[in-house]
Order: sequence, then structure tokens, then C-alpha cells
Amino acid sequence: MIRNKKAGTKVKPQAKEIAEVKEKLKILFTASEAVPFVKTGGLGDVCGALPKVLKKLGHDVRLVIPRYWAVDRYAYNLKTVLAPMGVEMGGKTLWCEVLQGKADGFTVYFVEHEHYFGRAGLYDDGNWEHPDNIERFGFFSKASVQLCRDLKFQPDIIHAHDWQTALVPAYLKTWYRNDPFFKNTASVFSIHNIAYQGTFKADSYGFLGLGAENFRDAVFENFGGINLMKGGIFFADIVSTVSPTYAQEILSEPGGNGLSVFLERRREDLFGVLNGADYDHWDPEKDPLIPAKFSQKDLSGKKVCKQVLQKEFLLDERPDVPVIGIVSRFAEQKGFQYVADCIHRILRDMKVQFVILGAGEKTQEDFFGGLPAQYPGRVGAWIGYSNKKAHLIEAGSDFFLMPSLYEPCGLNQIYSLKYGTLPIVRATGGLRDTVMQYDENTGSGTGYLFYDLTPEAVYGTVGWAVSTYYDRKHHIKMMQTRAMQQHFSWMDAAKQYELLYRKARLRRSVWH
Ligand code: ADP
Ligand code: GLC
Repeated sequence: MIRNKKAGTKVKPQAKEIAEVKEKLKILFTASEAVPFVKTGGLGDVCGALPKVLKKLGHDVRLVIPRYWAVDRYAYNLKTVLAPMGVEMGGKTLWCEVLQGKADGFTVYFVEHEHYFGRAGLYDDGNWEHPDNIERFGFFSKASVQLCRDLKFQPDIIHAHDWQTALVPAYLKTWYRNDPFFKNTASVFSIHNIAYQGTFKADSYGFLGLGAENFRDAVFENFGGINLMKGGIFFADIVSTVSPTYAQEILSEPGGNGLSVFLERRREDLFGVLNGADYDHWDPEKDPLIPAKFSQKDLSGKKVCKQVLQKEFLLDERPDVPVIGIVSRFAEQKGFQYVADCIHRILRDMKVQFVILGAGEKTQEDFFGGLPAQYPGRVGAWIGYSNKKAHLIEAGSDFFLMPSLYEPCGLNQIYSLKYGTLPIVRATGGLRDTVMQYDENTGSGTGYLFYDLTPEAVYGTVGWAVSTYYDRKHHIKMMQTRAMQQHFSWMDAAKQYELLYRKARLRRSVWH
């Protein structure tokens, strides 16, 4: 649902607008990750799925991402389409190659630059952030625009995502401002997570070539340093984020992480579009990664998945004991410190099992990784990243826990709904927009929401879910059916983006 921030009113397309959005556009997505090539989180899911659906709507959509070391050019059959391509950075020309491949029927470009991307880790080396990230993504952003020119692909829209490509709208309005090739190119900047803003020391500013006039508080300057996201918000024709509730939350503090006043200046141009789920990959009726398929009508396959899950995670194979699944990055945002503070009590007081898949902060890796030895047969944990295990957990668990401090959208709870795995979530951002609260009197709802950020709230809500499991089985069934009927379609989201693209083009048309 698109929602304009003014009093949270929904934007209903007018008949004229609907006719105008039928126009087929040339759209370039520029992002730092996209499935199936590289993914560290939901950003990768979105940038792989949304272009595919826009393509189905008839647009000429292309995507550009860096050619990281992890992207195997031979496995994906990538062909060179530009070599060399020169990108002006810091008064010098940096040379790179542009490769081309395909994903789900649309064209994907890869910027190949050994020095910047030929290393392990997208943003860090596992411990430390790459120290030259500003150069890497500054260069990539500029290259994204430059390749359109050199390939003679004249986009109507460039859709940039998060701090890594926040400079794209800025380059269009500064470096390429007087270039007739981009006269009609408008930009949309999507914020997937405002906590990661791309902040760097001021001494790299010269390398970006954005002009001293833009190194000021309203644009890129931030407490004496550089803030890329701030510049994206300033220059983009339209700014969006990934759920209506998060769009509201970032307009004030602490949700805005210091940027709310800058977003407030763009209030009229800020929209929240709820992410969809890619049901080509996340649907228990056809998921090739799970041991047995199942549907709303026949849940017997889910029982098999639960059994395999318990076996794989060395849990007691007890069909009668509820399993709570966790799949997450371990980062402060995700709120697992509150789970750590109450999980011993939960395991003492409740007959329940946990299955945990996660990676990230070292202390949490150690804490959760150490639980199976303390609770053999009751807690299973795998520290690392595994898409296959993520699918198995979604399919085989009874509940799915996401106690996020904040959550711009969140995809796992959307996936778990489809797998009849009831989400237990904190009522924030996209979690609030996608999960309906259980009502004990009627059995309505699709999951459990809590508000307080405390271990007590986690403990109490997990207890509520577990007691429903044992005492009101018929409610669990009703909720599962309702959950599996929820459909967060990318097609709906894509149609809302079409409207935003139209608005962006209107904004662009008044620029000189
Ligand atoms: P975020 O992008 O903030 O991490 P989302 O819920 O939007 O949160 O998306 C997370 C995505 O990353 C989901 O597709 C989820 O399955 C996946 N994911 C997260 N952690 C892991 C992990 N350890 N192993 C496999 N997949 C993971
Ligand atoms: C970010 C957010 C997550 C969202 C994802 C995709 O990683 O943390 O909530 O679902 O982006 O938009």
C-alpha cells in the first residue's frame, strides 16, 4: 500500500494516472546485491524480485550490480559488453569492464573492477568493514550512470537502493546535470534500512566529485563527515521506503536515525510501499528445497518437514512439542539480545524447542551457538548462512520469532505466513503491516505481536503462543489457514512503483 505521509492518507490512483502508468518505461535498477547472484539480506531479495515483475508489466528493466569475487562469471555465463569503460573519479579516470548476464528474463549488468570488488565480502571482510567502501560504492554509483550512456540505454527511471547507490540521484543532478542524454531521466531512491547511512570521513569527499557547494548540512555533510544517504534523500526525485508504517516511523526520532528532519523536508515525496514475497521461491506447494511439499488443504507435508528439521538440528523428534524458528542476521536491529535475556527462563518453564540459524555479531553467535550443548534435544543452532536451512526452518517450525527493535519491512515473517508458521513479532515497521494479532476469543489473526522492548514481553508472548499450541489447537489451525492465505504480491507492489515512477518523472520534468 502506498501511503503519503500527509496524515497517512492512501494515494488512490486516478483514472488518468492509471492510463499514464500504462506507458512502458526504460528502468535501471542499481543496487549492491540481488538474488540469485549475491545476497546478504532482504535487499538482495527485493532487487532480484521486483525487476522481474516490472518486466512482466512490459517495462524494459535492467539491473546493475558490482561483479564481486563471489559472482562466478563462468557459472552465470557473463559476457563483456563494454571494455574498457572510463569513470571519472577524483580527477582521474578509473577503468573498468561491464559484463552482461540474465536473471529471470531481464538483463543484468555487472561492473567489473578487480581492485574494488575482487575480494571476499560485499561490505566487510567478516570482521571489519572494507576501509575504502566510500570509494567502492562511489565509483559503482557513478559507473551505473556512465554505463547507460556508453551502452546507449537511455533510462526514464533510475531506481537506487540504500546508501550504497544513494549517490546515483546525486550524480544525475550534479555531474550529469547538463548532459542531454539524461534530460528525461528521473530517480527514485528506496530506503531499505535507515540505520545504515554510509557515513565516512570528510577527506574522501573530493574523490566523489560532487562539488564543494554540496558539502553542507542539508546535503552531504554530517557532523563534519559525509553521509551518503542524506544526499540521496536530498537529490532523488522521489524517496520511498519498504512499508507504510516504517515510512511514518522514519519521519520522527529515534526512527529516523538522525535523518528525520531531512525526510520531513521531502514529506510530500516520501512513500511507503510494502515489499512483496517472491513466491516462485517461497511457496510450500512448490519449494524444491524442502523435504515435503504442502498446502493449506493438506498440511501432512508440514509434519514431514518438522520431523526432518528436528532430525537435522539434533532435536528430540517430538511432533507434539512446538518448534520456534529463528532465521536472522545477528545485528542489534533484530532484537535477539532480548531473547538471550529470557531464553533460559523460557526453556525452564515451557515445553518448547528452538531452531536457530543466524550469523553476525560475535557475542550473539557465541551465545546462541552455545545453547544446543546446554539444552541437548531442545535447542538446535547453526551459525552461518544457509538458504536451504532457512527454507527448512520456515517449513518445519510451528512459530517464527522476530523480536526486532525496528524492521523496515522484514521478509521472513512474510515467508513464514505462507508456510503456516505463525510469526511472533514485535509490532514495528513492516512487521506491524503484515502480521495480524491473534484474538483468543475468536481465533482470528495470523500471529502474535508485542510492543514492549523487554525480555518480559518476549517471554510473555512466546508463552502465549506456546499455550495456544497446547490448549487451543483449533485456533492454531484457523490461524495457519488464514496465514497461508495471505498473499503479499510483488505485482501489487510493482503497480505502486509504477505510480511512483510517474510522480518521479513529473518532478524531473520541472528541473532545468
Ligand atoms: P534483513 O534484510 O534486515 O536481514 P529481511 O527479513 O528483509 O531482513 O530479509 C532477510 C533475508 O535474508 C531473508 O531472505 C532471510 O531468509 C535471509 N537470511 C537472513 N539470515 C540468514 C541466514 N543466516 N541464512 C540464510 N538466510 C538468511
Ligand atoms: C532491509 C530491512 C528489512 C527489509 C529489507 C528489504 O534489510 O532491514 O526489514 O525487509 O531491507 O527491503
